[in-house]
Amino acid sequence: MNENLVAIVSPLLDWYDVHKRTLPWRGTEDPYKVLVSEIMLQQTRVAAVIPYYLRWMEELPTVEALAEVDEERLMKLWQGLGYYSRAKNLRRAARMVMDEFGGRFPGKYEELLRLPGVGDYTAGAVASIAFGQRVPAVDGNVLRVAARVTGADGDILDPKVRRQFRGWMEAVTPSDQPGKFNQALMDLGATVCLPSGAPDCDNCPLEKLCEANRLGIQETLPVRRKKAARRVEELTVYLLMREGKTALRRRADTGLLAGLWEFPNVPGSLDEEHAGEPLAEWGLTALDWRKKLTAKHIFTHVEWHMTGYLLETAGEGSGLTWADREELEALAVPSAFTKFLEEARRALEKEAAT
Ligand code: ADE
Repeated sequence: MNENLVAIVSPLLDWYDVHKRTLPWRGTEDPYKVLVSEIMLQQTRVAAVIPYYLRWMEELPTVEALAEVDEERLMKLWQGLGYYSRAKNLRRAARMVMDEFGGRFPGKYEELLRLPGVGDYTAGAVASIAFGQRVPAVDGNVLRVAARVTGADGDILDPKVRRQFRGWMEAVTPSDQPGKFNQALMDLGATVCLPSGAPDCDNCPLEKLCEANRLGIQETLPVRRKKAARRVEELTVYLLMREGKTALRRRADTGLLAGLWEFPNVPGSLDEEHAGEPLAEWGLTALDWRKKLTAKHIFTHVEWHMTGYLLETAGEGSGLTWADREELEALAVPSAFTKFLEEARRALEKEAAT
């Protein structure tokens, strides 16, 4: 039990009554909707999630609909959100709800933990918000609030420290309206107890209860050890144009961005002198090299540094699908690649304008 945290419950709930954010997944206790919103919010900002969530619920309003959706549609609904395994896990979870729980959403924290892609945070959020179970939901926002209120300076990337915070939060979660309490913590973390130098302590309902505020060390908490540097991978990407169409191919079924569509590419950064070499292997002939482009894309553990070539080609090419603009829009192409396409379109438009 942590004394500072015990005292936050009532002022936090009062604050939430006045300051809670209006969000499309609030005001529902449908566990399917809560689960989808929580999975989308796992690594993506609220503002970015809203349009995806609304579109998803229009197309897949129930767990049955999700269990039956085809892969292409699923990927398209997720396109741009990143971490595509989240979408695949959601569909696997929906199928498990249908097959193993007879279509009735499991209501207990421990059962929810069995669903693919659901860890202790998400299970806690769904159990408390949709089912009123008294369990904590400790994400990065909540850890920040808890670290500051308690003044605890353990490394929040250390599982032992996280377990300690979770234990503290479990002890103070009220049995009356635990879902409201958890969402109030999330909102406070997202709008007031902000990270990196920007906490708005003057407007915080916990100001007088906060150890970090008392000591003036808000900005040093929570403590997070440095992460290992991301691996950099160089990639040469080809925007191959033929009669107004662009070449695409499907990625492998496993690994990063599994099963999504990509522009043909080869490892390494090829300069102009060597950029033509892969074309012969693909059975293509270059007609007109139009542009050289560069782009970067950052994943969790890898950073892609891409060199791109936009060119007109002749030939069918082996393993390639040629798509016009409309067909391209319908395919799930991850942002790492669409970014490139946008860059190319801008370059061409600029060229046409001069
Ligand atoms: N971040 C994660 N889950 C959230 C929720 N339910 N409401 C607001 N922000 C969140």
